[in-house]
Amino acid sequence: MKDASLRTTYLKDYRPPPFTIETTDLQFDLYEDHATVVSRLLFKCDGGSSVTDLRLHGQLLTLEKVFINGQLLSPDQYITDDESLTIPALENLLGASFEEFQFECHTRIEPQNNTALEGLYKSKKMFCTQCEAEGFRRITYYLDRPDVMSKFTTTVSAEKAKYPVLLSNGNKQASGEVEGAPDRHWVTWEDPFKKPSYLFALVAGDLASLDDTFVTSSGREIELRIFVEEKDIDKCDHAMLSLKKSMRWDEEVYGREYDLDIFMIVAVDDFNMGAMENKGLNVFNTSCVLASPKTTTDFSFQRVEAVVAHEYFHNWSGNRVTCRDWFQLSLKEGFTVYRDSEFSADMGSHTVKRVEDVSFLQTVQFAEDGGPMAHSVRPDSYMEISNFYTVTIYEKGAEVVRMIALLLGPEKFRAGSDLYFERHDGQAVTTEDFVKAMEDASGIDLGQFRNWYSQAGTPVVSIRSEFDADSKRYTLHVRQSCPDTPGQSDKKPLAIPLRLGLLGSDGKDLPLKLLGDDDSIGETDRVFSLIEEEQRLVFEGLESEPIPSLLRGFSAPVRLQYDYSRADLLFLMVNDSDGFNRWNASQLLTIGLIDELQSDLAAGRDLALPQSLIDAYAGVLDSTLSDASVDKAMVAQLLSLPTVGFLIERAEVADVEGIHLVREFLLNGLAVMFYSSFLDVYMDNISDAEYAADAESIARRSLKNLALSYLMRSGKDEAVKAAQKQFSQASNMTDQLSALRCLVNSGAPGAVELKRDALDSFYKQWSHEPLVVDQWFVTQAVCQLPGSLAQVKQLLEHADFDIRNPNKVRSLIGAFCGQNHIGFHDVSGDGYEFLADQVLILDKLNPQIASRLLTPLTRWRKFGAKRQGLMQAQLRRIKAQGELSKDLYEIVEKSTI
Ligand code: TRP
Ligand code: ZN
Repeated sequence: MKDASLRTTYLKDYRPPPFTIETTDLQFDLYEDHATVVSRLLFKCDGGSSVTDLRLHGQLLTLEKVFINGQLLSPDQYITDDESLTIPALENLLGASFEEFQFECHTRIEPQNNTALEGLYKSKKMFCTQCEAEGFRRITYYLDRPDVMSKFTTTVSAEKAKYPVLLSNGNKQASGEVEGAPDRHWVTWEDPFKKPSYLFALVAGDLASLDDTFVTSSGREIELRIFVEEKDIDKCDHAMLSLKKSMRWDEEVYGREYDLDIFMIVAVDDFNMGAMENKGLNVFNTSCVLASPKTTTDFSFQRVEAVVAHEYFHNWSGNRVTCRDWFQLSLKEGFTVYRDSEFSADMGSHTVKRVEDVSFLQTVQFAEDGGPMAHSVRPDSYMEISNFYTVTIYEKGAEVVRMIALLLGPEKFRAGSDLYFERHDGQAVTTEDFVKAMEDASGIDLGQFRNWYSQAGTPVVSIRSEFDADSKRYTLHVRQSCPDTPGQSDKKPLAIPLRLGLLGSDGKDLPLKLLGDDDSIGETDRVFSLIEEEQRLVFEGLESEPIPSLLRGFSAPVRLQYDYSRADLLFLMVNDSDGFNRWNASQLLTIGLIDELQSDLAAGRDLALPQSLIDAYAGVLDSTLSDASVDKAMVAQLLSLPTVGFLIERAEVADVEGIHLVREFLLNGLAVMFYSSFLDVYMDNISDAEYAADAESIARRSLKNLALSYLMRSGKDEAVKAAQKQFSQASNMTDQLSALRCLVNSGAPGAVELKRDALDSFYKQWSHEPLVVDQWFVTQAVCQLPGSLAQVKQLLEHADFDIRNPNKVRSLIGAFCGQNHIGFHDVSGDGYEFLADQVLILDKLNPQIASRLLTPLTRWRKFGAKRQGLMQAQLRRIKAQGELSKDLYEIVEKSTI
């Protein structure tokens, strides 16, 4: 790797572009062994530029010709290197004070050999593009930065028979046959909206489409088209419905209407991420668009709905208003994730969605914030921007927007959003512009709140309470701190919204009257903004000591420390008026018990099933069996123990075997103790109704399948039979795959054959469905029984495994290393060595995927000395290889010591 490409880019070095590009006119000629791109750009320099060198980004391009104002340049008039094309001293070509000029270049690329899946590449037989963040420079020379916005016109020509469908951004303008080549045709697309190059897209292929229309609130009819391979045309209905719901929701909730006359989605098999919001032409990973009951789990149905919404919402939060530079990535991603999570909550249950999002944040984002790649929501520097499409930018960024919404309240937040879109429409802006619009529209000072954008790390909020019966005062002593993160120490206090309530002994919320606050109107649920390192909240007028319900709805992405007694938690689980905190209380209770059992285990004491857990389960199961109106999705959450991943993250030093053992002990104990209740729950929730992907049906299936997994743990023949029956007779993938998982993880007598038979018959049934085969790989990769690594290694040789396909890599290697903690962290270190081997192979093919896959190895700080040593040894082995991609180099460099 050459030194020049190992440069770090700093936010403080940001300068506006020396030129703008008014219009971008592209001509693509696609062939099997190459593609040619002719680009005609109209450059402007406002007020005459002092910079006279024209430097354009470009990578892996073969430059054939360059013209300035129609004049062909000779090779001594320009310089190319690995990353750029420079035409020095434009004034020599254009005269002293030029204001605009025409640039034209002809380049040649090889899409068929592009395994990185950035720029123009082939996915199976289809041509497609992925330009975010810096992929456009692999298509042609350009000012490939988001603050250069241009009007694009694109003509694509290709062989008619192989590529009947030719797409690009905007509206179709013209089409025809290629003169002198009767087997070829062309189409011209024109996008009337200025956009940065990262939103450019092109697709060419033999595609079928599901077509529909949507009438906007102002009465415009929009054409909606979802393009897929012919074989998948029956799997597009759910995405289409999700799209129409998203379009309506954005009108109703944000007042945002769609702007072009057509909105297209294209599904591709080979894709580095979930999907991409290219203007008018979203490109999707098949896994995020295709859905049918027989092949798709409930989880994936919900993911399709969420991703379709996410990409659609980007049309305003990202495309109409875009990012000035990539340090501002969370401007569009954080805001859009916040928007899609509220959309999903509105389509289902707010509490369940919040529980899912917070669990994910606490498991994955908190881990990132505590690791070597910790960065703020608006980072200060990066080496490779692809490495910064992180849970911090996306999920923590969404939490920051959520806090603004909470501090402003719904009306002012909407006013802020309206002002933001109105003020910055057509511009490339910063997170500061977003905050400023929120401030200006609401009149609320967000000065100190801005620290959330610049400071990395998960803040800790510790609270101690004190009750004085004589004065009837209840005091919360609150402290906040934030741990050091790489390159950042001595953090400033943040403005932290703490939403809370106080419960009386009858379980009811008490009025919250702050000492000296005469405006209080007896609200029982309030948001207090914490701004000092240490502060007190004094409540008055309390007859007896209340039980506090703190950080309701997870009102800030912090670690809360409060010393709840077990009795308090059991009380909150039942009585808290905030559904999220009822769930949280049950989590805290279980975590405390798991901690105790781990100490017992370490001290060689016998483990016993704790009575408070038995009581909690008995309560939840009884209410479920007696009351048909309970929210089954919440019940399923309440009957699930925290995941191993979550328990590892919150441990100081994670004892992987201990965590696994204690968790298994509890699950098995509960399974035996509540066998008959689980059987009742299972039977009660079997339904022969036709499959529906609505929230209620999904909740019912999740509870039923959770019950089945407990039943299987009993090892009883009756349970095995039930799982086999469900496996072979299921009418939908959720039920079939849940049963398969049960059979694959079973320790019952004859388990080896059970597992083999189920896996074989599943594969036979579904080998023609790549996304189902992915699930077959995942199921084996996350199997909790010994021997999973050997199994995974064997599956690398399977005919359906393809290291060039990111979905396959994620399903097999990613799932094993990221989700099978007991397998991956085997104390032999074999899992670590395996990951390093695979990452090195992948780095030659697809650096983005290689560097993402490495994440589990960078979490070494969480583990004991032995594992730390083994993990670091593998990181050093990778580092010693030389010739690493920039993507992988950055991660390895930052995570080795
Ligand atoms: N902007 C995309 C999103 O909606 C993210 C994305 C898609 C992406 N493909 C990518 C980012 C490739 C980097 C590289 O979240
Ligand atoms: Zn996005």
